[in-house]
Formats: sequence, C-alpha cells, structure tokens
Amino acid sequence: MEDESLETLGSLRHLFSADDSDSDRPPAPGPFFRNPIMQIKFDSPTRHPEGLPRSISLSLFVDAGPGCGGIAWPAGEVLASYIARRGFALQGLNVLELGSGTGLVGLVAGYHGAHVCITDQAPLIPIMERNISLNMLQSNVTAAELDWAKPLPYLQRPDIILAADCVYFEPAFPLLVSTLAALVPLPPERAPEVLFCYKKRRKADKRFFALLRKHFTWSVVDDDPARERYSREAITLLRLFRRS
Ligand SMILES: C[S@@+](CC[C@H](N)C(=O)[O-])C[C@H]1O[C@@H](n2cnc3c(N)ncnc32)[C@H](O)[C@@H]1O
Repeated sequence: MEDESLETLGSLRHLFSADDSDSDRPPAPGPFFRNPIMQIKFDSPTRHPEGLPRSISLSLFVDAGPGCGGIAWPAGEVLASYIARRGFALQGLNVLELGSGTGLVGLVAGYHGAHVCITDQAPLIPIMERNISLNMLQSNVTAAELDWAKPLPYLQRPDIILAADCVYFEPAFPLLVSTLAALVPLPPERAPEVLFCYKKRRKADKRFFALLRKHFTWSVVDDDPARERYSREAITLLRLFRRS
C-alpha cells in the first residue's frame, strides 16, 4: 500500500486501539467521517491485462450507522493489501469473503478478475452494494447476506475464503468457527484456501482460537513483505487448514 493511503488510514488508527478487557461488547466503531468516501490505494505487482497502471485506487463509502462493519478495519486493510499483491493470479477464481463490512477485501479481489461474493449481516448489504457500484465491479462482485447465526445460503464452491478482523465479539466466536467448518470440507475433499487476518485486541481472543483448533490447524502467511510492519500492530495473517 502506498504512503498516501497509509496516511489516510493512519488518521483512523486511534479507532482501533488494543483493549485487553474481556468485555462482550464489540470495540466502538468511533467517530464518523466528514467525507464518507475514502480513496484507498494498493500496489499490485502483477501487470493489468489491459496495460492499466499497477497501483489501484478504490473508492470506499464508509458509514458506521448500520454497525461496526461499515468502516474499514486494520486487518481488512492488511488482507486487502496482500490480495492486491496476488493480483491477476486471482483471475477466474471463486472467492467468498465473510464479515466483509464495507467489502474492501473482496473488492480488491474482484478488481483483479476473481468472481467474488462479499457477505455480511443484512444491514451491511446496502454499503457493500454501494461500494461495488462506486468501483464499477458489478460484473465480478456480488453482495449477499451470510449471517454466521443462520443456515448457510446456497453458494458457489469457493476456491478462496477470506475473513478479516472478524474476531472481535465473543458471542460470535462459536458462530464464526462453525460457519468456517461448514464451508471447508473435510479431507480428502479439495479444500479452499482460507486466509484469515486477525488483530489481537483482547485476552478473550484466545477462546476463539481454542474453538477454532477443534476444526482447523493454521500457519502464519510468511510471504508477505509487509508482515513485519503489521505484526507490530498485533495483526497476523493466517492460512487455515481443515483437520480430518
Ligand atoms: C470488525 S468488522 C470487520 C469488517 C471488515 N472485514 C474489515 O476488515 O473492515 C467485523 C465484521 O463481522 C461482521 N459480523 C459480525 N457478526 C456477524 C454474523 N453473525 N454474521 C455475519 N457477519 C458478522 C460484522 O457485521 C462486521 O462487518
């Protein structure tokens, strides 16, 4: 991600401070923005098939009114940046994003030619749809309700599942784990790649990983050159593997 965009997001950092309390309350989304449309830039090392510039700029409408997902969260920024590095290698792949909020991560995948379904709870769908239109990604990206507390809707079998900053609200931990387990078939079936970006905020987060361990193992994604920078902010990008 370029300096300019880091500056833009840097001004939001105070919204995402660590809190070691074990409260069930999700972190407050914080104040709203005077200009609710942000420009976020990413560097993409792969060449655009039509020769367009390698750095991409997405417009992102943010509005914390419908819930905390209506703003861009720091682990989402990290995962979006990692996806931009994958670039046009994503072309033609089916991507499913959970807890998309504004849709930023999935939009970056859609920009690079993946067929993406960005999902969240119903109140976030208008924001996701607005962001799809703002970036003219209607042919690649769709928004759908996928509430971890409800039965799974019908979905295209994903090649990649993305989730960023979804560990923040303890009552939702078992719901998220069971949704992931339902989406990723047991070996020997071919499993999608699962990229899970997480920011440690509370001691209670370890309860999420205790639940996750029943169904998945994981490893840290170690080919991201930005890793050292974001690990200083307690952000980790993991690849999850289904346990047999
Ligand atoms: C902290 S926000 C992160 C949003 C986005 N991934 C990002 O990184 O900017 C957590 C997201 O999880 C979503 N979420 C929480 N509970 C959910 C549930 N039961 N089903 C689906 N999504 C849920 C919220 O609506 C919100 O968009």
